[in-house]
Parts: sequence; structure tokens; C-alpha cells
Amino acid sequence: MNTSLSAARLKPSDYYSVEQHDAEMSGIWESSWIFAGLKADFPAIGSYKTCQLGRHPLILLKNNKGELHVLHNVCRHRSTEILEGTGQLSKNITCPYHRWTYNLEGDLLAVPDAATCFQGLDRSQLGLKAGSIGFIGELVFIHPEPDQNFDKWAEPLKDQLWPHDLLSPKMGEAEPITYDIKCNWKVFAENALDGYHLAHLHSETLGGPRPAQNKWVPKGDHMMWYATDDGQILHSLPAQVRKSLENSRATKFKEAETPGYAGVYFMYPGTLVVPTPYSFSVTTFHPLSPTKVRLRVRNWFPKTLLTGLQSDYTLKDIPGYDPNTLIVSSDHWGTDFDPQKSDDFQTEDVWITEKMQRGLMSPNAQIGPLAQGMGAEDPLIWFQNKIMISCHQ
Ligand code: FES
Ligand SMILES: [Fe+2]
Repeated sequence: MNTSLSAARLKPSDYYSVEQHDAEMSGIWESSWIFAGLKADFPAIGSYKTCQLGRHPLILLKNNKGELHVLHNVCRHRSTEILEGTGQLSKNITCPYHRWTYNLEGDLLAVPDAATCFQGLDRSQLGLKAGSIGFIGELVFIHPEPDQNFDKWAEPLKDQLWPHDLLSPKMGEAEPITYDIKCNWKVFAENALDGYHLAHLHSETLGGPRPAQNKWVPKGDHMMWYATDDGQILHSLPAQVRKSLENSRATKFKEAETPGYAGVYFMYPGTLVVPTPYSFSVTTFHPLSPTKVRLRVRNWFPKTLLTGLQSDYTLKDIPGYDPNTLIVSSDHWGTDFDPQKSDDFQTEDVWITEKMQRGLMSPNAQIGPLAQGMGAEDPLIWFQNKIMISCHQ
């Protein structure tokens, strides 16, 4: 791949150093768009959901005009985080510490004991800070800074989008899955972009394709992946997976039957949209530390099959699922568990990315040559260039 930075590459310590992690917090996670939910997650005025983007605690909220917007979840009195989890506000947002109260727009409405303790207070300067919001169909994306241009970021995908109708009554959502993986978030992101491993690590589960049969197409801040292992048609699934689903007569989404859309949309830095004729999923990355990443995965299937073949994994069947924390982690694999026999490509990826992290942390680690080609490891160069530019601006 011909880019001016193509010779520059991340080094092993970039995958575990605190300095690099801090640079990425401000340079990447606190200045990027990420998927945060569906419009339908917010049914009424006052519906809210909290989330963390980099070091920013945020609130995604439907205001009195019925518009979704993003506020910083940080009280303007002494910075207490105000809301937790998800829920429905009856009217206002009240900080539990000293009960400063904001309306759903984020304006500061009331301050207890104001006449005694805050003479001359200008409430108009003390509203909750705003972030930005954008939409692709039903998908909601957020950015922690105000007045960001979502359309500019999303525009390169405009003609390449998936056809899935998330509002269709035939579409149903499975239980969301949370994975905690003991690797740097970039190790996992690079694994998602690496076309070289598909035919090897995933030989049993995805069955390829080989590098010459993968197509990664960069567009702006995004990368789109297609399988071309079945002639010239661009498919969203590898041929082996497609054939087995076809043989099992799994239900397809009508609107997604015709090939042409990508099988993976990597939306830098932390959103992966994976549409297929049989399913739709969105995964987001959340770096918890330099050596730990949380993955949040939401999956949609044809409703009639939510308890059937296509969503055969109920949460408890996922290797490493812990019913107490509701988190999937290799910490909960049994001692005789063999990830290579799990028949689950995500488990194979968890296993290999944790192994790679341990190797990268060796004082002897030195990263070797990458497999050339956009269907192999060239997308990692695209990714690493973006990391370097983001962190050194
Ligand atoms: S910190 Fe929120 S009211 Fe005091
Ligand atoms: Fe993989």
C-alpha cells in the first residue's frame, strides 16, 4: 500500500504502554464517532442511556422536543457523574450529591440554597456540556465534542450501505453480549482487519477466504470487507458459511438477499457493522486499560428464528460466559477447554488476540513483515497510519 507513512509501524510497546494509551484516549477515543444504540432504544421523552467514550462519561437522551442528543454526564457543580445505566427520567436530570437540577436540554434549572450559598450565580453558564449526534438509518452515533460534522464522517459510506430494515417486524434482537478480552484494543481491531488469518485460524469456522479472495476497500475513515471466494460476485459471507446456511435453509431477510453490500464495515476507530442475509450485528470496542478491551455486541436475526438455528448461541452457551457478571471472558474457560475446537470464530479470536498480547509484552518481541495485499495484512498499515496520525497531531 503506497502511503507516506507505510514504513512507519506500531511497535510492541504501543500495544501496552500507558503513554500510548493516554495519547489514544485524547487523540482517538475522545475525538471520534462511535455507535451508541438504536433510535428505538429511546422510546419516550426523557429516555436515556449512559456511556463512556474515552474518559468522558456521556448521556444519550431524548429531550422535550423528542430529539436525541448527547450531554456530558458530569455535574457542573463539582463534577459528580450524574446518571447511571439506562432509564426513563420523569422530567429533569438531578445530581444526587447536592441536587443541582438540569432540564432535558441540559440547562441548569435549580440550585438548592441558592439565595444563601450562591449569590449572583449565573445559571446560564452552568448547563451540562454538549456532545454531538448523528444517524445512519436507525443507528445512532455519538461524539463527545460539540458541533461535529457527522455527515462528513459518514458520507464515504453513503452509496455502500447495507439494506437491512431494523424496524421490520420480522427483525428481532438477541440478548446483547459483552466480552472482556485481555488484549490491547488495537490487537483486536487489527485481527478484525486481517484477511490473512481467515483461512488459517478460522479454517474450521469460516473456512477462509484466502488473501486473494478477500477484498478490503478503504473509504474515508472506514474499511469495507467483501468475500470474493465464489466467482466475481462480492458477498458479505465467506462461501463456506454461505453454503452451510443455505443448506440449513436458514431464513434470510428479504431486503438483504441480493449481494453487493459489504460483510464488515469497520468504522474507525471502534465500530464494526456486520450485515449478512441472515443477521445484522454491531460491535463496539471500549478500551478498559492498555491491555484490556471490552466488546459490546448487538445481534439481530429473523424473529421466527430467534430461538432457533441462527441464534443458536444463547448467552449461556458462549464459552466463558459468567452468569454473575454477565460477561464473556477467557477467565471462565475450563482448564480442559480447547478454543480451537469451540466451533466459534469469535472464541478463536479471543484466544489468539490474548496470546498475541502476551507475546507482544515479551522484551524480545519484534514485529515481523506483514502479509502484503489488501486481502491480507495491508489493512493493518492503513489502520496503523491512522493511529499514528491521530496520536501525533
Ligand atoms: S456535585 Fe452535583 S450537585 Fe454538587
Ligand atoms: Fe478473526
